Amino acid sequence: MECSSIKHPFIFLFFCLVFLSPLVCSQLYYNFYDTTCPSLTRIVRSNVLSAMANETRIAASLLRLHFHDCFVNGCDGSVLLDDTSTLKGEKNARPNQNSIRGFEVIDKIKSALEVACPSTVSCADILALAAREAVNFSRGPFWSVPLGRRDGTTASESEANNLPSPFES
Ligand code: HEM
Repeated sequence: MECSSIKHPFIFLFFCLVFLSPLVCSQLYYNFYDTTCPSLTRIVRSNVLSAMANETRIAASLLRLHFHDCFVNGCDGSVLLDDTSTLKGEKNARPNQNSIRGFEVIDKIKSALEVACPSTVSCADILALAAREAVNFSRGPFWSVPLGRRDGTTASESEANNLPSPFES
């Protein structure tokens, strides 16, 4: 059906809302949580800072956790999922097992955010922001993080096994 064939403007509007809004809503925005969770950045920053005060290395670990999340089907928080009876997660893939770390920092931030703004901020967004803060607090660069990622409900151990190996040429 072409838009030009629609006679009534309201029918056209309805058509656009129903069929096009999911596409529009799946965009990322820098101000995604400005009204729903204004304390987001402050909470992420304070938790990353206190984790770094406890152990400086955690900053590097958070950056790597973000990289290993994004490598498998994009930055959807899939790396954070535990194995279940129906899901083989990414935590035990060869490049990750006994190597990626920082989960407890993300969990702590998520708990604090559930108190401040329940059921609002995705774990994928928390990880993306925590990595940025960790790098920036380490005197690395700062980058703006567009927000509004949805958490993945699946993970892929086999794709996580495709992370580049330290033995590559
Ligand atoms: C592309 C090929 C890459 C390979 C083969 C590779 C491999 C590795 C290996 C073997 C380690 C040590 C892990 C351990 O000690 O358990 C490591 C650590 C690390 N990697 Fe990579 N990496 C790669 C790319 C990247 C990229 C793109 C980033 C950043 C976006 C990154 C960030 C880090 C950081 C920050 C650490 C230290 C993590 C910590 O101390 O907890 N790596 N990497």
